[in-house]
Amino acid sequence: MKSLESDVSYDEYGSLPGTSGASGFAQFDYEFEPDQPEDSFEELYEFTDAFMDPSQAEPVKLWLESLGFAQYADLFIANQINLDFLPCITPLDLDEMGITEPDIQRRLILGIKQLEASKTRNFIDHDQSDASLTHSMIHYREISYKEIQLNPSPIGRGAFGIVFKGLWRGQAIAVKKLQVFLDPTHLEDFRREAALMERLNFHPAISFFIGVCTEPEHLCFITKYYPKGSAYDLLVKENLVLEWKLVIKIARDAASGIFHLHRERVIHCDIAARNILVGDDWSGYVSDFGMSRIKKYTTTPLARPSREGPIRWMAPELLQNRQLYSFKSDSWSFGVMLWEFVAHAKPYSTLTREEVVQHVINGNTLSIPVSCPPVLATLMKDCWNFDPELRPSFANIWKRLSEYYIKLDS
Ligand SMILES: Nc1ncnc2c1ncn2[C@@H]1O[C@H](COP(=O)(O)OP(=O)(O)OP(=O)(O)O)[C@@H](O)[C@H]1O
Ligand SMILES: [Mg+2]
Repeated sequence: MKSLESDVSYDEYGSLPGTSGASGFAQFDYEFEPDQPEDSFEELYEFTDAFMDPSQAEPVKLWLESLGFAQYADLFIANQINLDFLPCITPLDLDEMGITEPDIQRRLILGIKQLEASKTRNFIDHDQSDASLTHSMIHYREISYKEIQLNPSPIGRGAFGIVFKGLWRGQAIAVKKLQVFLDPTHLEDFRREAALMERLNFHPAISFFIGVCTEPEHLCFITKYYPKGSAYDLLVKENLVLEWKLVIKIARDAASGIFHLHRERVIHCDIAARNILVGDDWSGYVSDFGMSRIKKYTTTPLARPSREGPIRWMAPELLQNRQLYSFKSDSWSFGVMLWEFVAHAKPYSTLTREEVVQHVINGNTLSIPVSCPPVLATLMKDCWNFDPELRPSFANIWKRLSEYYIKLDS
């Protein structure tokens, strides 16, 4: 097997070093309670792994039946789509689920909109007009581009946009300017992504989302600015050697953020060190979930050489069968992210993207550095189980990392 640690090139992402600056937001650190009884964690696992209990599946079935699409009930349930998640569904998701017939897609999307409108009506003032009803269905903060002051040089660039440091109402912000063309349907998706980010914001290990600018010339996502940058910037690009305790702290927080996303029925789809931001006190913050849909409209030459996704972080079932992303494909990517934390390198750096696909499909994984603590090595191997069902859930990953953190901290 070729060495996977040598000759690391970072061209694939072309990121630039982060800059330092003030951060005006409070940081949060988890207080783990060592004497919490073990069985309460077991409850967590069960809770986490059984999203679609019958009480959630039944309303989806009934709704599909009412539209005359009872035949799709199993498909929706298998994809963990309950009534809460329905508003986030777009024609692209239906495509991915194998529902490609335009007329069926149109009727399903219309059904979703009607359902959403009927739910929203309960929450709005009676004297609001129908026009404001449509607007009130999607909640996010619209930020006027005129209010933002941008630093001229970017701090980084990713698969579909360039990130600048800026100032908004006296606070440091990160502005991700999208290099995409969005037609009106896709703009609607953009707004839905913003609403999704707003909804998922309130967890201490999620990077803080401020709002979006939907002015066509200045499409951008605005988040809190994290002066230390991403875990990739620190551990891979700058090759910073941190004490294990801090590495585990970042990883543990990342796991808890993804645990939250999964509990909210959102699959991240792009877990990697570059998408874990690091706070002043070495807390980890999950970023860039919900961007996968926007990435599909990328027109920029800044995009990755292939637009087929973050191959090096992808689970074999995704590379092999073009299956849907799942909670357990996130677990695989998390294992690769842990490897980046430990190896300080780009995964499979000596292999081309095509070679990586073959390598992983053939049952090979990354070689774990000898310096890796056994707890992490075992966790990585568990995340890389070929059978998705046997990979750990994020409740389990979080628990294992938390326990290890306590051990290192004591
Ligand atoms: N909120 C932020 N605070 C500070 N730096 C940030 C922030 N968001 C992004 N960055 C910097 O910008 C870089 C590029 O981010 P971006 O999300 O565009 O691309 P990426 O994370 O490398 O790839 P991906 O397209 O998979 O997200 C990051 O690596 C990080 O250095
Ligand atoms: Mg990112």
